[in-house]
Amino acid sequence: MISAGVIGFPVKHSRSPLIHTFWLKQLGIEGRYGKKEVPPGDLKTFLRGLPASGWAGCNVTLPYKEEACRHVDVLDERVKRIASLNTIYLREGKTFATSTDGRGFTENIFWKVPDFRFAGKTVVVLGAGGSSRAVIDEVLREDAVKVVIANRTPARAQALVQLFGARTSAISLDRIEDYLPTCHLLVNTTSAGIANDGGLDLSFDRLAAGAIVSDINYVPLVTPFLQRAEAAGHAIVPGLGMLLHQAVPGFELWFGRRPSVTQDLYDLVAGDIDPGYKR
Ligand code: ATR
Repeated sequence: MISAGVIGFPVKHSRSPLIHTFWLKQLGIEGRYGKKEVPPGDLKTFLRGLPASGWAGCNVTLPYKEEACRHVDVLDERVKRIASLNTIYLREGKTFATSTDGRGFTENIFWKVPDFRFAGKTVVVLGAGGSSRAVIDEVLREDAVKVVIANRTPARAQALVQLFGARTSAISLDRIEDYLPTCHLLVNTTSAGIANDGGLDLSFDRLAAGAIVSDINYVPLVTPFLQRAEAAGHAIVPGLGMLLHQAVPGFELWFGRRPSVTQDLYDLVAGDIDPGYKR
């Protein structure tokens, strides 16, 4: 029996067990995927003890994606670059880490808009935290020609330009509307609106017709940001698909089979988030 799980603080709302348990059953694998709340201060002990824990690896969620990088033996190039990880696996008694968040983002775009290509496109990214770094890294790897990083605190966006180089530029969030007419894909990676802070006060009036709008947040399934984008006539890509797609490589690393993201899986997890959800 192979076991894995997700760690975080808090972790009780994580949908990862639902996703991996669905795949284990679907593929007929005798495995288990749990969740473990790791209190602040216990992260190092947990991760250094992982090889002896009986788990084949784990997902790492908030607030540990950055801190965990200090307690893993081998970080891949992507994790080193973006200083964030979400997937840890064991090989020969050592811990290895990767980040599948960025790929989860682009795969979700391709899942919903199959003919979309990043090459030659301008992507406007709202936010400059760890999720933003993961998304930008992968969007550049997919050959986007330009990435505009808009953040409430411009210095954080500027730091990402230092990291990612010439194809990126940094602006203050309150100047965003000037950059919308040339935007092909607009993505919200900020947590604005998650707490009761009123959310992003952004008008879609100047956004290029045909621009796609995505949000990495998935509670509610269609965030107020996406609701307003859709009302303004834009195709939207909700964030839940990113969660599903980022889970694929971890499952394969721990359990040895590559699962697929299907509408049935989406419906299952969507129904857990919103009991009123209908396909
Ligand atoms: P994560 O690692 O999940 O991306 P983070 O590092 O805490 O999280 O980053 C959160 C992002 O949401 C930041 O870009 C933050 O902007 P600041 O850098 O100015 O703090 C952004 N954010 C959070 N609340 C916001 C709000 N009410 N309005 C605008 N941006 C907000």
